[in-house]
This record gives sequence, C-alpha cells and structure tokens, in this order.
Amino acid sequence: MTNVGIDAIDLWVGNLRLDLPGTFAPEKGEDPNKYKKGLGLYASSFPDSYEDIVTMGANASYRLMERNELTPEDIGRIDVATESAFDKSKPVSTYIAGCLEKVYEEDFRHANKGERKFACISGTQSLNDAYNWIASGRNRGKGALVIATDTALYERGDAGEATQGAGAVAMYITEDPSIVSFSKEQGIGSADETDFLKPNQQFPSVDGHRSMQVYLARMREALEDYKSVTGDIHPDDITYGPFHTPFPGMVKKAAVLAYRNVIRGTEVADEIEDEVGRQPEPEDYDDEEEYLEELREFTDTLRNTDRYLDWYAKRIEPTLQISEQVGNWYTGSVHVARISALLHAFEHDRSIVDEQMIVASYGSGAQAEIHAETFQSGWKQKIAKLDVEEQLASRYDLTFAEYEQVHDNHNLDIETDVEPLTTPEDQFAFDGWGAMGERKYRFVD
Ligand code: CAA
Repeated sequence: MTNVGIDAIDLWVGNLRLDLPGTFAPEKGEDPNKYKKGLGLYASSFPDSYEDIVTMGANASYRLMERNELTPEDIGRIDVATESAFDKSKPVSTYIAGCLEKVYEEDFRHANKGERKFACISGTQSLNDAYNWIASGRNRGKGALVIATDTALYERGDAGEATQGAGAVAMYITEDPSIVSFSKEQGIGSADETDFLKPNQQFPSVDGHRSMQVYLARMREALEDYKSVTGDIHPDDITYGPFHTPFPGMVKKAAVLAYRNVIRGTEVADEIEDEVGRQPEPEDYDDEEEYLEELREFTDTLRNTDRYLDWYAKRIEPTLQISEQVGNWYTGSVHVARISALLHAFEHDRSIVDEQMIVASYGSGAQAEIHAETFQSGWKQKIAKLDVEEQLASRYDLTFAEYEQVHDNHNLDIETDVEPLTTPEDQFAFDGWGAMGERKYRFVD
C-alpha cells in the first residue's frame, strides 16, 4: 500500500493586520468580548495593495521550495484551491507557476496544472487529487504542489466582516512523506445547500447563522460515514483534531458534538455518567422535540466537565492559535489548523510519531470530509523551518480608516489608487494589468 501525504508545508500571511477587539469592534459599536470570547478572534490578516491570491500563493510556494531545497523539476502537478479566483478560464496555478519561473532556471512545462472549486473544502479535495495521482503511479516519481489561497473578504456591513482574513498555504505531497501520511479511509457528508455562495459576484451572499447549522450537520454525517469504514474512534486516540476554522468559536461548537459522538460506548461515557448522566438516544423518545431538548442539556453539561475541557485544551485548542490571529482563509483554514497543531507539538517537544490526527474539512454549499493523518518521523525537522511567529509579528497594524481603504482597494467594483502601506521585499508583487486584461507580477528582491 502506497504511503502518501505531506512532505513539506509553508504559509504566507497577508502583510496587513486589523486588530478586531481593539480597532474594529469600537468602530462598530460592539463589545470587544464578542471577538475575544464569542468568535475567538483577535486579529485578521489582509493583503496590501500589491498582494492578491497569486502573490500570496506564489510567496508560500517559493518559501516552501527554498526551505526544502526543491526545484520545479521535483513538481509534476500544481493544483490551486481558491474561492477568490478572478478568471473564469485561466487557472490561478498558471499565474503562480509563471511567478515561480521568474526565480528558477527550470520551468513547469510538464507539470499538470489546475484549479479546484468547492468553497473552503477544495484545498482538501486537491490533497485527495494529489493522493490519487501518486497512489495510481502516474506521478513519475514527482510530487504535487497544492496551494490553498484566498482573500476572504465580505461586503462592508455584512456580519461576516468580523471573520475576514487573507493568506495562502502551500503543501508538497509525495510518497513516503516526512510530516504526515493520509489515511485511505475517508468520510463524506454532502448536500445541496445555499448557506454561502458567490453567484457571479465578488463578495459572498451568506446566511451566517444557518451556515453554522449546515457546517455542524454535514460534519456529523462525515463523522458517521468515516466511522462506518474505520469502526469506532476513541477520543484519546486523536492527538490533535484540526477542523475547518471560519472562526475559532465555530470549532468550539463542532468539537463538543464530535466528542459526544465518539465517547458513546466507551469507558469515558461510563466514567462521567455520575456527572452528566446517560447520553439520550433517539429510540428512547416518542417526541423528537423532547429528545433534542434532552440532548442539548446533556451537551451543555458535557462541555463543562473537566474531562471534556482537558480533552479540548490538549487536542483542539492548539489547532486554533494561528487562526485567532489571522481570521478565515477559506480554502486554507483547515491547513492553517494543521500547521498550528504541528507547531504546538514542536514547541512542546512532543513525541508524536505514529500518532494520529483526525482532520475535519468543510465547504459551504455544502460538504464535510473527515480523514486521519499519521505523523511521520521527519515532521520535527520540517516544522523547525517555519517562521509563522515572525510573519504574524511583522504585519503592519491598520487603523480603521486604513482598513476601509484597503477593503475598497480590493473591491473590484471600486476604482481606487492607494499607496501600499508596506514595502515588498523578497516576495512577489502585483505589477499592473496586461493588454488582454491579465494580471502581471514581478519578484521584488
Ligand atoms: N461577550 C461574549 N460573547 C459575545 C458577546 C459578548 N459581549 N457578544 C456576542 N457574543 C457571542 C455570541 O453569543 C455568539 O456566540 P454563540 O454563537 O456561542 O452564542 C458569538 O459571540 C457571535 O455573536 P453573534 O452570533 O451575535 O454574531 P453575528 O450575528 O455578528 O454573526 C456569524 C456571527 C454568523 C458567524 C457572522 O460573523 C457570519 O456570518 N460569518 C460568516 C459566515 C461563517 O463564518 N459561517 C461559519 C460556518 S460556514 C463555513 O465554515 C464556511 C466559511 O468558511 C464561510
């Protein structure tokens, strides 16, 4: 059986930062605790005027290639996952390959390039494509570069404005990987939903509160589907549980439901029975409303038990540490959560080789996917190369007036001419428009 997974990983954080409780909330007349305690968000990352999904994707890929001594010769496939594409025909991967060819002698002439769309889950779907390409033996010994890149902006005044973000994650997928290998088993929960969509428009139409219910419903289906293949999962066998993270508060809601699901029939359920009682089961109730009410009460008690709080603190909270500083990166979010977990293990000098993560992805529209990843022996060496802290700390802090300009600057319906707030260095930058309406880029030394 082929062992396929992530051999190298890197990310690029948009160069600007908006302090949500400190700068955004007061302008909105909101309590900062809505951000700190409710949504679990402290800051958003934003792209400067010379940044977009191409520059962020190319910068993440370039860092990944340099830090891991890769050249275009090592890459047989480039897939970009995004829901912020600006071209309905030419894929973002061609723009990113074009950028990278400016800094490498070799080219990507024989690399198969594409673009994947299914809201935030398409990054994970691209990992699946890479897995299948390698496992089928069509890869001629090369790896796949998967890039998840988004500017997750909402219309000004939309409730989603609180959860914005911008950045890219690049992942190099190979046989016998250094960081994690993917399970063959996966679970899917999928249904035709209209919770969040962009029908020929830049900013999403979103039914925010319903989108949260859809997320939870699809996630439950994916978990049941996954368990139908693997058998029961024990909560203590999950070293980390990275979820798609539109904002950390969403994961808090999903994690307790997942925990409630996986403790059924385990000794954990017996050990906490005195404290929380027996988990209500639908077959014991004639009235569905009564069952749901009992289940809500059980879940509320469960989420406050020491046993659950300890599980959450060790296995879920560590996945949220980057997200709470950058906001939603749509396709990149679950991959940011994975990086956050790996950094946590690195900083705490944990021995995790052969242990497992359960990775829970989600895309509106709507689909959830769950698979397992097993830590490989080279993970520590690869994670030691990352500079996430430095990237977060070097962002330019926006005033509210600057934030408004930046939002307008990235709004395709508004013509603006703003000066960048930062100076690009050692990175790709937008360089104006070409004769056919294409975007042009340059590398700034
Ligand atoms: N102190 C403490 N907590 C507070 C508070 C205060 N002063 N004020 C508010 N809160 C809490 C609220 O109680 C709430 O928490 P609970 O849900 O646990 O009750 C939380 O802060 C948010 O408050 P509101 O619900 O009042 O916030 P809102 O009406 O502005 O909407 C939102 C929140 C629906 C998430 C909105 O930001 C939104 O539409 N976001 C975009 C859609 C989204 O992210 N959906 C997630 C699922 S879909 C998905 O995952 C795909 C994707 O990436 C988009």
